[in-house]
Amino acid sequence: MALKVGIIGNGGIANAHMDGYKALCDEVELVACCDINFPKAKAYAEKYGIPHCYDNCYDMLKNHQLDIVSVCTWNNAHAECTIAALNAGCNVLCEKPMAMNTEEALKMKEAAEKSGKLLMIGFVRRQGNDAAAAIDYIKKGFVGDIYYAKASYLRRCGFPGGWFGDKSLSGGGPLIDLGVHVIDLSRYIMGCPKPVTVFGATFNKLGARSHIRGTEWHSETVVEEPVFTVEDLATAMIRFDNGAVLQVEASFNLNTKNNCGDIIFFGDKAGLNLCPFELYTEVNDQLADIVPHGSNDFDFGRDFKKEIKNFVDAVNGKAECLATADDGVELMRILDAIYLSAQTGRSVDIVR
Ligand SMILES: NC(=O)c1ccc[n+]([C@@H]2O[C@H](COP(=O)([O-])OP(=O)(O)OC[C@H]3O[C@@H](n4cnc5c(N)ncnc54)[C@H](O)[C@@H]3O)[C@@H](O)[C@H]2O)c1
Repeated sequence: MALKVGIIGNGGIANAHMDGYKALCDEVELVACCDINFPKAKAYAEKYGIPHCYDNCYDMLKNHQLDIVSVCTWNNAHAECTIAALNAGCNVLCEKPMAMNTEEALKMKEAAEKSGKLLMIGFVRRQGNDAAAAIDYIKKGFVGDIYYAKASYLRRCGFPGGWFGDKSLSGGGPLIDLGVHVIDLSRYIMGCPKPVTVFGATFNKLGARSHIRGTEWHSETVVEEPVFTVEDLATAMIRFDNGAVLQVEASFNLNTKNNCGDIIFFGDKAGLNLCPFELYTEVNDQLADIVPHGSNDFDFGRDFKKEIKNFVDAVNGKAECLATADDGVELMRILDAIYLSAQTGRSVDIVR
């Protein structure tokens, strides 16, 4: 029987979720959607032929026995909507970041455990061909022991506007919005070591940079009074329990030449760069760069569909969920520690 689907939050990313569900039309039935901005819910329902729409998740969850729910709201509503859906007996795919902080994330995990339902986190980068290829090379020993990694997600002028600059809705700036992707992906590819110590710094030097014309990132949610109460740059070093260290940097705005999103893993046999996918090693006493042929890339459209399929397959017991609530909690622990370290100027131990 087809799984009944509901979507909470009907803005930008909810379209990507819908592309994924539409591709699985034999396995799912689109039943309802909701948004606190009701005209948006109505427009979304009309666009995708969803029969029921609401202005809050509680009525939607009460009126329909849904099997699966996507939570695509602003970050400040992830915990509330996810817990409501889990308590109503739904399996939930919650967008990244899992929550505003670790405390909320732990409550969500607890609600999932109580309900016996699946809570998956939208770490879409885990679904990429680049991630699968990297893990394959690492597992087969080509990279050796990874002791250091560097992850960057830098935008020169890329504040999306809207709620992304309002800390009360987002929980933070580029760290929680962009850094979350590359920190999670790095940790995933490194075999999910546990973070133990973090040193971080955040800055707000360039602000929203909204006077610059022609930037390509725009939130769907327009606010009359744009606010920018978040950092514009975050940087951190994260030490894991296996001794490896990850250095990360993420910006909305930074005086750098190019936007960049890349991760490089340094092993004692080779370095592995994710984008472009390359290995740096030595062959016959010479330094050698290896560029494997094949599509070892990340493609947002293709891999978002893979994420939705992974969720549906996991709910049906046909696949292992690639991004669990535990992974989401671990990430929130790292983000909380980076923000705390930035505030105090000291390194922060992650205590469980
Ligand atoms: N996986 C990715 O690559 C990716 C990309 C973009 C955004 N996101 C995440 O998706 C989420 C949404 O981002 P967006 O760009 O779609 O934002 P958006 O502003 O376009 O859409 C969010 C919608 O949620 C609605 N909303 C807020 N609180 C609600 C509540 N309590 N109940 C119902 N609806 C509510 C808003 O009215 C808005 O229409 C964020 O958590 C963001 O981090 C993920």
